[in-house]
Amino acid sequence: MHNAIAGQKPEHPPFWFMRQAGRYLPEYREIRAMLPHFLDLCYHPQLAAQVTLQPVKRFDMDAAIIFSDILVIPDAMGVGVSFEAGEGPKLQVTRDEQSALRLNTSIAEKLEPVMEAIRIVRAQLSPEKSLIGFCGAPWTVACYMVAGKSERDYESVRVFALADEKTFSIIIDKLIEASVQYLSLQVKAGADIIQIFDSWAGVLPETEYRKWVITPAIRLISQFKKLHPDIPVIAFPRGSGIKYPDYALAVPADVIGIDVQTPLEKARTLLKKPLQGNLDPVILAYDKCKAIDETRRILDAMQDHPFIFNLGHGILPATPLENVEAVCKAMKEPVSP
Ligand code: CP3
Repeated sequence: MHNAIAGQKPEHPPFWFMRQAGRYLPEYREIRAMLPHFLDLCYHPQLAAQVTLQPVKRFDMDAAIIFSDILVIPDAMGVGVSFEAGEGPKLQVTRDEQSALRLNTSIAEKLEPVMEAIRIVRAQLSPEKSLIGFCGAPWTVACYMVAGKSERDYESVRVFALADEKTFSIIIDKLIEASVQYLSLQVKAGADIIQIFDSWAGVLPETEYRKWVITPAIRLISQFKKLHPDIPVIAFPRGSGIKYPDYALAVPADVIGIDVQTPLEKARTLLKKPLQGNLDPVILAYDKCKAIDETRRILDAMQDHPFIFNLGHGILPATPLENVEAVCKAMKEPVSP
C-alpha cells in the first residue's frame, strides 16, 4: 500500500474493503454469537484479532483493518455507549457545558485491548500486508454524542452547534485530543496506515463544513503527523460532493477516500492527490456481473494515478461471498494497456 501511495506502479492497485470484517461473513457471525454485546468483541483482543484476519484469509486483500468501532472513543471518554440489535448505537447524550468539560481524554487504559488486538494481528499478518488503524472524524463522532443515536441528517446536531457553539467546540476539541492519542497508540502497537472516517461530512453546508469538517481534520492530522510523519493517512469525508477539492487542498491527508456518488475520474483531475474508492456496495451486493465490469472500469480509469481500490462506503451485510470473490479475482487480472 505504501508504494502505491508513493506513486510507484504496482502490478495491480492494492485493495481492501471498508467494513470488510462483518456480518456478510459466516465466520464473523459465528464469533459474534459468542458474545452478547458488540463492544465486548471490540475489547476482546484474541477474538477481535481473529475477526480482523478473517476477510484477509478468505479474499487475500492487501490490508487488514483492525476490528473496532469509531464509537469506542466516546465509550473511553466516559459516555455510555451500547449497541441494540437492529437499532444501531445508543449513547448517553452530551448537550451541556458541564458534561462536555467532564469528558475524559485519557483513553489509553480503556482502549488497551484494541492495542493488544493490533499486536496479535501484526504478528500473524504477512509482512507485505498493511494493518490499518482508524478513528472517526470529530464531526461524525460528535454527531453520535450529541444526537445519542443514528439520525438521517443530524439536523438536531446542526441546531445544537448553532445554538451552543461554545459547548460543541469543547466536544470537538476533546475529540481531537483523544483521537490523536488513540491513533498514535495504534501506530505504536503496529498499525502502519491510518484511516479517518467522516461518514456524516455530507450533511453540512459550506460554512459549517469548513468549521466542523475541514478545520478539525487539519488539526487532527497535523498533530498526528508531528508524532508519526511517515505513516500515511487516508481521509474519507463521505458526501463532500463539490466540496471535495477544498477538503483535499486544505487537509494534510496523503490519500482522499472517494464516496459512491463522486465520479472518480473527475476527482482524479480536480483533487490531484492519491485516491481511494469507490465501487458501489449496492452493485457489489446485488449485481455480480456489473460489479466485475465496474471494477475493470475503475482500474482502467485510475491507471497511472496513485490509487487504492476500495468500495465507496462499507460492505453491506447482505453481500454474497461469491460476489466479493469475483471482484477480488477481477482485481488481480492484468489491466489492458
Ligand atoms: O472491518 C472493518 O471495517 C473494521 C471494523 C469497523 C466497524 N465499524 C465494525 C462494526 C469499522 C471501521 C467501523 C466504522 C464505523 N462505525 C463507522 C464509519 C464507517 C461507516 O460505515 O460510515 C460508523 C459510522 C460506525 C458506527 C456504527 N457501528 C454504527 C452506526 C453501527 C450500527 C449499524 C450497523 O452496521 O449495525 C455500528 C456497529 C458495527 N460496527 C458492526 C460492525 C461489524 C455491526 C454490529 C454487530 O456485528 O453486531
